Formats: sequence, structure tokens, C-alpha cells
Amino acid sequence: MKFSHELVEKNVGLLAILIVVAISFGGVAEIVPLIFQDETTQPVEGLTPYTALQMEGRDIYIREGCANCHSQMIRPFRAETERYGHYSVAGEHVWEHPFLWGSKRTGPDLARVGGRYSDVWHRVHLIDPRAVVPESNMPGFPWLAENEVNSKHTLKKLQVFRDQFGVPYGDDEALQKDVDSLKGKTEMDALIAYLQSLGTALK
Ligand code: HEC
Repeated sequence: MKFSHELVEKNVGLLAILIVVAISFGGVAEIVPLIFQDETTQPVEGLTPYTALQMEGRDIYIREGCANCHSQMIRPFRAETERYGHYSVAGEHVWEHPFLWGSKRTGPDLARVGGRYSDVWHRVHLIDPRAVVPESNMPGFPWLAENEVNSKHTLKKLQVFRDQFGVPYGDDEALQKDVDSLKGKTEMDALIAYLQSLGTALK
């Protein structure tokens, strides 16, 4: 029998197989080149791994659900770059596990919030957002200022990032020294240290 469109259209099984082949080809053509482009797998110049304090701050960010209202991904559109700065590039995120790009923006994108405000502004804002932004509907997180950072698992976390994800941390002794510096720090200190680091690597 001659191979014709009619054959494909009348044969659901064959149609399904060919659809899968067509879609997989599209997927492979889009995804595979990214794996081999340095631009998408190598850190941007000047990227530094999170310190112990920033790492704990990041986990507090995840725990408190900040990512439910804030994305960390500036898209390459004028409306976004004028507001937030240079669009996000893959090389800024190669050491992120998991990514916190998000897509829900009840509040502004935070990918480049580092350095935009002072630590004091963040402290006041996180305790009571309406103290500095009267129309804000962000909830306050006053307990962060009272909780001490729990550093029980910090060393382990840093080791996992180093050994499993290839983040260029120093040896255990250097990590332990960084972890020791968490003594007496509050969760608020950690979260602010994390926020101030966001998006500052790309020049
Ligand atoms: C219910 C949604 C919601 C949650 C949850 C939330 N925020 Fe917000 N956030 C907002 C909104 C809305 C704004 C804009 C108004 C303002 O500045 O308060 C904002 C503003 C901000 C800003 C200022 C950004 C800028 O560029 O002006 C920062 C920083 C921030 N949030 C951090 C956090 C952190 C950290 C957490 C988690 C501890 C958090 N937010 C949780 C809604 C939220």
C-alpha cells in the first residue's frame, strides 16, 4: 500500500506514535544544545557560593514561603529590565539547588534586590511591611528577629552542595569556621544576608 496521509489519519495507533516522535524531536532540538553551551552551565564571572549565613537565610526564605509571592527571574522584556535591572542569565543560577525562579508575582521580582535597600530597611519591612510601604499586603515575619539561626545541619548542607553539586567551597575546616560564625545570629540576620546577595554577581 502506498504511504499516504490517509493511512496516518485513519490509524490512531500510528498517528499517536508519529505525534510522539514529532514532539520528542522538537524537545531534543531545544534542550540538548543547552547542555553543551558553556553559557548555560558555567557560573558567571564573580559568582560566589553562599556563605553559611546566606545559605541558612535561603532555607528560611523557602520555609516561610516567600517564593509563593516573589519570583527570582527577570525576563528579557523591556518592561522588566527597566524595573528590575538586567534580565536573569543561567550562569547566575548554576549553584542553586533547588531553583527559586518561581512565576507567581504577588510582590515584585527579587532576582536583583541585593543592595537595593539597606539592611535596616529590610529589618523594618520584614517585621511590619506597612511601616515602610503603607499599601503593602505582604505579611510581617516578626518572629525571625527573635529566633536564633539553627546551625545544626549547616555544615552538612554546605558539604552536600560541595560534594554533590560541585559548588567550589573550601575544605571542611574552612566550612566549619564559616558555620561557627552563625553563633548569636538571628533568622532575620540570615534572611537579610541572603536577600542582599541576590543578583549582585552579574556586572
Ligand atoms: C502574600 C504575598 C507575600 C509574601 C508571602 C511575601 N511577600 Fe514580600 N512583598 C509582597 C508585596 C505585595 C510586596 C510589595 C509591597 C512591599 O514592598 O511591601 C513585597 C515586597 C517585598 C520586598 C521589597 C521588594 C522591592 O523591590 O521593593 C522584599 C525584599 C520582600 N517582599 C521580601 C519578602 C521575603 C523575604 C518574604 C518571605 C519572608 C516575603 N517577601 C514574603 C508580597 C509578599
